[in-house]
Amino acid sequence: MDNNTEKDTDVILEVKDLKTYFKTGPHKVVKAVEGVNFSLRKGKVLGIIGESGSGKSVTARSILRIVESPGYIAGGEIRFKGQDILKLPEKEMKSIRGNEISMIFQDPTTSFNPYMTIGAQLAEAYNAHTPSGSEKAKQEIMRVLKLVGITNGEEVIKKYPCEFSAGFRQRIFIAMSMILYPDLLIADEPTTSLGITIQAEIIEALSEVQKQTGISIMIITHDFGVVSQFSDDIFVMYAGRCVESASKKDLLRNPKHPYTVGLIRSVPLLEARKTKRLKSIPGFPPDMSNVPEGCPFASRCEYAKDICHKEVPALKPVGEGHMCACHFPLDYDINEDTELG
Ligand SMILES: Nc1ncnc2c1ncn2[C@@H]1O[C@H](COP(=O)(O)OP(=O)(O)OP(=O)(O)O)[C@@H](O)[C@H]1O
Ligand SMILES: [Mg+2]
Repeated sequence: MDNNTEKDTDVILEVKDLKTYFKTGPHKVVKAVEGVNFSLRKGKVLGIIGESGSGKSVTARSILRIVESPGYIAGGEIRFKGQDILKLPEKEMKSIRGNEISMIFQDPTTSFNPYMTIGAQLAEAYNAHTPSGSEKAKQEIMRVLKLVGITNGEEVIKKYPCEFSAGFRQRIFIAMSMILYPDLLIADEPTTSLGITIQAEIIEALSEVQKQTGISIMIITHDFGVVSQFSDDIFVMYAGRCVESASKKDLLRNPKHPYTVGLIRSVPLLEARKTKRLKSIPGFPPDMSNVPEGCPFASRCEYAKDICHKEVPALKPVGEGHMCACHFPLDYDINEDTELG
């Protein structure tokens, strides 16, 4: 991704060496995000993948500057449209939230007020930043509902959230997140709590929104199936760090980091892996309040050597637009994976 041949103007969001910590005790700091680097190209979809606790949501919340106490951003830059938004006064940041960057949160139960109609909530979201007459608000509400494939908007806006299924509510929430014409949508696990069929419908709805509006999307998931379907670029996170990033094609065909290979091998649905046996990654991610020295993946890595337990590998280029943080990047072709065959 972060392709050198591309102009800066092609990048909408660039995160440099972001560090977000939680001070959980007088002498205890959880380094949830520890020097993360990635960029999102304008009008493209970036998938962020990693196991539970790897720091995906904290990264997303850091971008909106809504990390809750005792969390704080300890360092780095978050360049949105060229400007470091970590330096902006809170008043300007408030205007960016929703207006320019909107977010679909991981916990769908927090998405709606159960006591207000869908129409009232969409109108509130619209008027919060753009106070205007109710006719204009209604036009915009119908526009975004249509965008996510809801054609009976007139009926939907009169109802309450509990009258719809979880999948339909998520669809409405995507509509709500689009009401102010944002340039960037961050979708944190938008399909996790939903069944397989509904998951596919939500990804389809997001994909349609992306095609119709040209919005840039950052989608967070622990499901390789989702990123492989929907992303242009992929960024793999492990223990608060970026371990690999590349275009989807490069990452799926020639993964360089043993963790990425492990993730790919553990997915049943990828086209390239249809005939191969599944293999899960042994062991667990480290305790984030006590990450061991060296590469955080070393204790689970079948290729680890002495140095891996001593030195943290830097994120380095391993191909055009392909970055990897490993002392011994693999030369791996997913189509020639006979080991599992
Ligand atoms: N409020 C908090 N207080 C202390 N530590 C926290 C807090 N929130 C997050 N963390 C730490 O940050 C780490 C990363 O959390 P995060 O929510 O970003 O993980 P995630 O990758 O989104 O996981 P999941 O896939 O389960 O959503 C956690 O493992 C935890 O150690
Ligand atoms: Mg999360």
